[in-house]
Amino acid sequence: MEFEIKSYREIDSTNTQAQRMAREGAGEGLVVVSDKQTAGKGRRGRTWESPEGVNLYFSILLRPDISTKEAPMLTLVMAYSAAKVIKEELDLPVQIKWPNDLILDGKKICGMLTEMELGSEGISNVVVGVGINVNTRSFPEELKEKATSIYLVTGQETEREPLLNGILEEFGRQYEAFIRAGDLSGLVDAYNEMLVNRDREVLVLDPEGEYSARALSMNSVGELLVRRPDGKVEAIYAGEVSVRGVYGYV
Ligand code: BTN
Repeated sequence: MEFEIKSYREIDSTNTQAQRMAREGAGEGLVVVSDKQTAGKGRRGRTWESPEGVNLYFSILLRPDISTKEAPMLTLVMAYSAAKVIKEELDLPVQIKWPNDLILDGKKICGMLTEMELGSEGISNVVVGVGINVNTRSFPEELKEKATSIYLVTGQETEREPLLNGILEEFGRQYEAFIRAGDLSGLVDAYNEMLVNRDREVLVLDPEGEYSARALSMNSVGELLVRRPDGKVEAIYAGEVSVRGVYGYV
């Protein structure tokens, strides 16, 4: 996959900018990266702290020929790719909190936000946005319990550009394999090796009622398999349900 990187010193949100460029006709492989975001977006309408000069904020524009139901798997492809690079190139014991938060030392170092636009014939574009806390030295009080950075864990500054390039390269490979296979079968085993929730008690935040269960593993369509106390195994779907550790964030 070919990437075209557009770098900014400051932008409202790399996701928003990639969506604007998509509407103007930009093609698959556009990458918007910014040194700072003034309106960084998190999931569920939250904001994403995006100070200048320290972290990675980037978004990739995709135009996959898949159904809307399959689109959430793209975030899982990115979560796996970013985790693999952080683990292998920075030699860090990173884990994945299903579906797509990356965890170091029990705290979040990376979040992803995928946004999709539909046209008359299905998906018009999908923007996968990634925020990685690379060199942040301190967090606002309300985030301290849940968030950390690569710097706070290693005590060392990490260069952002090689990290970004490594993640793009890995994502390109994994994305092509995903499109070819039509599912996550090429990465699911390696993803599960990094799954922080594995064999842990989790609270399943189902809109129809919360319940606790034991997380087992992710399957090749991205669902998390959990075992309820009565032994029944449920497949939970990332778009609808989230999980929380019973004893804290993970
Ligand atoms: C989350 O809530 O965990 C998702 C955070 C996603 C943040 C990234 S930073 C780059 C891209 N642009 C945004 O506005 N958000 C995503």
